[in-house]
Amino acid sequence: MCGIVGYIGKKPANKILVDGLKRLEYRGYDSAGIVTLDENGEVKINKVKGKVAQLDDEIAEQADKNSIGIGHTRWATHGEPSVANAHPHKAGEIFLVHNGIIENYKELKAELADHKFVSDTDTEVLAALINSFYDEKTSLFDAVRLALKKVVGTFGIAVVSTREPNEIITARLGSPLIIGLGDNENILASDASALFGLTDKAIYLNDGEMAKITREDVKIYDLNGSEIVGKIEKIDTNLAAIQKNGYAHFLLKEIMEQPETLNATLRGRIDAMKKTVKLGGLNLSEKDLKNVQHVVIVGCGTAYYAGLLASYYLAELLPDVTIEVVVASEFRYKKSFLPKNSVALIVSQSGETADTLACLREIKSRGAKTIGVVNAVGSTIAREVDGGIYVHAGPEISVASTKAFTSQVSAMIMLGVSMAQTRETAEDFVEKIVAELAILPDEIKKLLNKYVAEIEKIATKYAKYEHAIYMGRDTAFPTALEGALKLKEISYIDANGYAAGELKHGPLALVDDRFFEVVMLLEGNLLDKTISNLSEVNARGGHVFAITNSDKEITAESILRVKTDLKILTPILLNVAQQVFAYYIAVARENDVDQPRNLAKSVTVE
Ligand code: M6R
Repeated sequence: MCGIVGYIGKKPANKILVDGLKRLEYRGYDSAGIVTLDENGEVKINKVKGKVAQLDDEIAEQADKNSIGIGHTRWATHGEPSVANAHPHKAGEIFLVHNGIIENYKELKAELADHKFVSDTDTEVLAALINSFYDEKTSLFDAVRLALKKVVGTFGIAVVSTREPNEIITARLGSPLIIGLGDNENILASDASALFGLTDKAIYLNDGEMAKITREDVKIYDLNGSEIVGKIEKIDTNLAAIQKNGYAHFLLKEIMEQPETLNATLRGRIDAMKKTVKLGGLNLSEKDLKNVQHVVIVGCGTAYYAGLLASYYLAELLPDVTIEVVVASEFRYKKSFLPKNSVALIVSQSGETADTLACLREIKSRGAKTIGVVNAVGSTIAREVDGGIYVHAGPEISVASTKAFTSQVSAMIMLGVSMAQTRETAEDFVEKIVAELAILPDEIKKLLNKYVAEIEKIATKYAKYEHAIYMGRDTAFPTALEGALKLKEISYIDANGYAAGELKHGPLALVDDRFFEVVMLLEGNLLDKTISNLSEVNARGGHVFAITNSDKEITAESILRVKTDLKILTPILLNVAQQVFAYYIAVARENDVDQPRNLAKSVTVE
């Protein structure tokens, strides 16, 4: 979604802003812009509809040495993608970039008759509102503060003014901001990746906080203007993690690096010899773990499907606990009973997803303990949960989530194992699943070494279709849902996942030459029943791609037979095959694989 970068220092700001915006491109956007000022308030503004590379071309032709500036990538919410709607927005002497949504922008706009609006955005309304408070007696800081008191909605903002050109004012409510601290320079961003290579010291703003950033100093305040002490934290600045490292796309790189990223998830946590799991950071006592009666897992998209798949394993590990998995955007609006001694797993790669964050706050207010299953270190969800398991998959740049899924499922399984050990349940299963977790990274490596070319060949055959059905039973059912999501988001093929047993209750009516079907058949896991479901599709002229770990006779148009030592965790492995399949279909269709149309990486609006 939208991205913010701000810079104040001695170097030309435009290059730093554009480089920072490039690192935020993965979040998804449709227009971009920057404004720079010099110490006397001289202004240079560049805005484009389209890619940050165009901004780069524009600034290359300008001899702009201005050393203060703010920049933005916009993902349209109010008003179409256009130069007029791109940020920064101007009102009087001020310029504003904004992430989030001003919900009462219509009411505010009606009160701002003096401003001549040139865009359709809620952000310009906020700029005009700040400007309405910005008279001779009021500082930029106070004008921003007073304006924000009238706002209903969410914001992460950065504001500069030609009248006070030696500071950036920033504020956050519901939309992340991080301030990187340098030597006589400071840099602001909505995502730590924009700071990579620049500084490793930063202050994360909390909701309801503002900051005044000068070259020499960063001061943090609450929205009433009282100064507070910001906590300086060390951030990971591994630039390699946000580069393609020779791969054609981030998506392929992230699929291929799963053996290492999963190892990072498991490292120091599982003991393959003793068949045990140890998790630090849960902040739950042994007594708490023993008393849990109910586990609710919430997340969106792939994170939700990771929760759904993990729930099958948790149910085996914790036979005396009820397990519920809910889409975060629904949880808050559906009346539901949260039993005493509930624990909520809040699953999110970015740790910033608005629906998931809202759920976390709701669940906390209802007294349940919350455990984050989060990838992005320092993200809002990671900071607000009672305890957590960082999944340590490293930055995921491609909008389509791959390595995060694998690590999230594994992290939740480790939590289930750790609870089962404390409660002394499912001892045999604990032993088997820990042994499989320990070999899973190597099994993924073998799959990636051995089967990618074969999967690519199969994918090329199915790239022409516009419709797809994914199906599987038991643990292969959530895997089918995830496979279909991956395919639809990067190939734009209309793909849906079903429980294989459900096909005859409706979806079978769809089967014809416009469709292909992906069926996952797992040895020892309702295999014969799934084969029957597959036959029902074959009998109706289906174009089936079967993925299996079985040697059994299977009839399908295409078959991928994966040899593996896994028995329980096969769906996680075979999901990697689904990821490769979706990737090559998207490549064959010449789509923007890393930044699919209409989507954003970090969905910070509800
Ligand atoms: O950052 P999160 O894990 O909270 O994101 C949740 C979903 O937006 C995300 O998984 C989305 O569905 C992906 N694009 C799927 O590949």
